[in-house]
Amino acid sequence: MEFREAVLARRSEYSLDALDVDTDAVIARIRGIAGSVPSAFNAQSARILCLIGEDHRRFWEMVEDVLRERSRDPERFKGTQAKLAGFRAAAGTILFYEVDSRTRELMEAHPSYRDMFPQWAEHGNAMMQFAVWCAITDMGLGANIQHYNPLIDSRAAEMLSLPDGYRLVAQMVFGRVTDPAGPKGKLSGDDVVSVGHAKE
Ligand SMILES: Cc1cc2nc3c(=O)[nH]c(=O)nc-3n(C[C@H](O)[C@H](O)[C@H](O)COP(=O)(O)O)c2cc1C
Repeated sequence: MEFREAVLARRSEYSLDALDVDTDAVIARIRGIAGSVPSAFNAQSARILCLIGEDHRRFWEMVEDVLRERSRDPERFKGTQAKLAGFRAAAGTILFYEVDSRTRELMEAHPSYRDMFPQWAEHGNAMMQFAVWCAITDMGLGANIQHYNPLIDSRAAEMLSLPDGYRLVAQMVFGRVTDPAGPKGKLSGDDVVSVGHAKE
């Protein structure tokens, strides 16, 4: 697939399973691109943790436990449970983190841009997420992105024994697409892009 095709084919795919998914190949592909993703001042503060097989399933069981403990409406929780079962049925989860100490370091080193570094860190992380999402699409697989942080942060850190200072940013579920995403209202390129003209 060419870059353009992967960008156009990328969707939020929610019907996923693990059949015939070569998770080692997915991890290798992500390793192959992750170091080249841009970041402000070359901060490189994004980190990725890949969960596959039992680790992936345990992670989503933990998310279910956390949400169950917080749920006040058992009927509504059944819907949440079904959604989480869908994530668990996929092949793996890619967790995106930020190392905030690196951001703080840059804030100290460049006082005139100090206030910008936290949002630039999020931008850099988002670029990493998009690159990974397109890479997964390029492999003929599908993914969706979730944000159960910060609700799950402490339990996730505890269960995954992460290095200190990793802050969870997003959770990307990937697998074989069993029922492709339907059409979604999207602006056209012409709606989004215009050509500017400077006054003389
Ligand atoms: C920053 C960001 C946050 C998102 N958060 C979630 C989320 O928490 N849960 C979810 O199911 N989808 C999430 N999405 C997916 C969007 O809903 C989806 O990309 C959008 O509706 C367009 O659909 P498409 O991905 O199929 O093109 C997020 C997307 C972005 C870019």
